[in-house]
Amino acid sequence: MNILVTGGLGFIGSNFILKTLSKFQEYTITNIDACLPGSNFRNLENIQDDYRYNFIKGNITDPKLMDKLISEHDIIINFAAESHVDRSISNPRPFFDTNIFGVCTILESVKKFNKKLIQISTDEVFGSLEQGSANEQSLLNPSSPYSSSKASAELIGNSYHITYNLDIIITRCTNNFGPRQFPEKLIPKVILLAEQNKKIPIYGSGANIRDWIFVDDHCEAIHNVLLNGKSGKSYNISAENEIDNITIVKKILSLMNKSEDLIEFVEDRPGHDFRYSLDSSKLRTELQWVQKTNFEEGLKKTVNWYMSNQQWCKDLDRNYEGNIPWKNKSQIINNKK
Ligand code: TYD
Repeated sequence: MNILVTGGLGFIGSNFILKTLSKFQEYTITNIDACLPGSNFRNLENIQDDYRYNFIKGNITDPKLMDKLISEHDIIINFAAESHVDRSISNPRPFFDTNIFGVCTILESVKKFNKKLIQISTDEVFGSLEQGSANEQSLLNPSSPYSSSKASAELIGNSYHITYNLDIIITRCTNNFGPRQFPEKLIPKVILLAEQNKKIPIYGSGANIRDWIFVDDHCEAIHNVLLNGKSGKSYNISAENEIDNITIVKKILSLMNKSEDLIEFVEDRPGHDFRYSLDSSKLRTELQWVQKTNFEEGLKKTVNWYMSNQQWCKDLDRNYEGNIPWKNKSQIINNKK
């Protein structure tokens, strides 16, 4: 299988590429990434020379590029997204450009060349839930510019399935954690701040609840969907680990032997969703997916990864647009031998 992965230099995309190439020897992957904050060249430096992997710097909002790439691949997995809620609050526009118009561009090419698309979405499309868990039939009820952009992409994707009979599947996952996550997100941020004995900002009272999954388990669930998912369907992915923020922060501090005095309660995020929760029984029963990593074990692995990859952390700034290793190279880098 010849897969086009978008946003593969990001956290989930890069973990997916590494896992897929090591699990499926016969697969080839092209990764198109816009090299924006969150993309990190170091994430995939170990496979740079693998003949099964190609990298292309480009944006999913570029129709010509997407036509070319999508025509050349069997399946497209769209990880490319602006994904941080806080940034979507301070500057929503890039979220609409990438997460909505980027998906529209992909869909047009998918239509033109009749290819299969897996659209990676999020539990945040269901908004904050007081009780119970959202299943695949639950109402989309997003609250932030980020989650509304992802919900919009789902609706548009679904309309292309119905109108043009395209092979489109949507997956929605809960909060991921693990190696290579950009430290604007809670878990890596806490690890890196604690390591430097800096104050850790907790929004509001820290009582907000997220449902956490180790990134490898998410990637394996995408494999199940890729192999056996049904066209036009959506699949919720959740490891059913609902934990409040303050508990997670305390667990990390304890793993790192740091004092809880580092915790600082700060003004709450505007429109802060209180609780997310996904029901993943469809994925478990129809596609036989089971998670392999429990939360405590995943958290330990994550803390250890950040502690033993200090250079990755120090290099973060150098990987932003304008200061990236391939800045002066041609736009397309083909590693194929
Ligand atoms: P985050 O990792 O940004 O993911 P999301 O908002 O998409 O769920 O945040 C997870 C939770 O942690 C969320 O309730 C907001 C909270 N949070 C803090 O309290 N302090 C922080 O510095 C960050 C980044 C998040």
